[in-house]
Amino acid sequence: MNFDEILDRRNTGSMKWDIAPGPVDPGRHIIPLSVADMEFRSPKGIRDALAELAEEGIWGYTGPRPEYYAALDRWFSLRHGFPINKDWVVPAIGVVQAVFSAVRAFSEEGGKVLIQTPVYYPFYRAVEENGRTLLTNPLVIREGRYEIDFEDLEAKMKEADIFILCSPHNPVSRVWTEEEIGRMAKLAAEHEVFVISDEIHSDFSFVEPHTVFTKQARHYGSRHLLALSASKTFSLAGLGVSSIIIEDPSDRELFKKRIRLDGVHTHSTFGFAAAEAAYTRCDDWYEAMLDYVWENYLALKDFTESRMPQVCLFDLEGTYLAWMDFSPVCSDHEELEQCMVEENLYLDEGYIFGEAGKGFERVNLACPRAVLMTALERLEKVYDKLTRDG
Ligand SMILES: Cc1ncc(COP(=O)(O)O)c(C=O)c1O
Repeated sequence: MNFDEILDRRNTGSMKWDIAPGPVDPGRHIIPLSVADMEFRSPKGIRDALAELAEEGIWGYTGPRPEYYAALDRWFSLRHGFPINKDWVVPAIGVVQAVFSAVRAFSEEGGKVLIQTPVYYPFYRAVEENGRTLLTNPLVIREGRYEIDFEDLEAKMKEADIFILCSPHNPVSRVWTEEEIGRMAKLAAEHEVFVISDEIHSDFSFVEPHTVFTKQARHYGSRHLLALSASKTFSLAGLGVSSIIIEDPSDRELFKKRIRLDGVHTHSTFGFAAAEAAYTRCDDWYEAMLDYVWENYLALKDFTESRMPQVCLFDLEGTYLAWMDFSPVCSDHEELEQCMVEENLYLDEGYIFGEAGKGFERVNLACPRAVLMTALERLEKVYDKLTRDG
């Protein structure tokens, strides 16, 4: 495993590389630290499993085999103290697909769906494009850390049919504490709100353990599902497999019926094989990768504090996505974006996560350190320009 290796992903169909605007300076390539996939080669255990499968040459209609369920159970028992019973698992294509289907399964047209903003942008689409009404519980910054306004949350829960929880949270990088998860589960139970707990980033928790929502939901009887996937942890997004965990049999049936209606009738042979290998043969890679991402975060923190002191970098508690507030140096998010492009740098602009993200930038830390450092030098040029002009 060599996380320093620089892979050229241009013209491979990579969304991250292909949606980035072309270089302003043709002599310099754009650096995209945007879309949440990794610039690392996935572990050898996965590559070997896929090579064997490729060699077999038979990839017909596919569902999970017993080894897939066992692998899922192994990983979540080991990493999160959460054994998974095979009967609870409903395979889905991706977490986003599952969230869209779950919104339709557990609310009626016009129903109300609550999200905590700023948040992963497809959540807005899952609500609005499904003809549901959006409710927001804006996260609040207290002493440099995002927190939940529980009073507001309770008020919104009284109206909501569904609550989509992002845990750990993308983009603000919070790992919700056991206490916070417990309070959310309790409120959801009291107000009969169905919780979609998107835990795709659960393998990235740097400060304290990730709390699987089900563990708290069991105390209060909160109806919910968990959306899990190996795709963030092992960079398998292009292979299209996720696992939706629903303990309650009638809710599970509702969801299964919904995804049938949504036309899902088969899954990716390669996706299952990759996830199976990821969850059983790749522990060393995973642990080394986590350390590498953490070192990247420390490099970013050091750089920000010493060379861009007016920018606020939030503590990386979870995910591999750092969240930075540029509003002290630029009040116009369009100007901020333009300056980035002019420096051939493409980060995820905060406004895509909602109004509260305006003036912020999200930085994908799952990249070789040398790439990160080059990107930071460009970021410093943006900073210098904005502080000089401002
Ligand atoms: C919170 C969250 N959910 C879901 C996804 C994507 O899930 P999938 O690729 O399985 O649809 C992402 C990707 O960035 C994410 O951050």
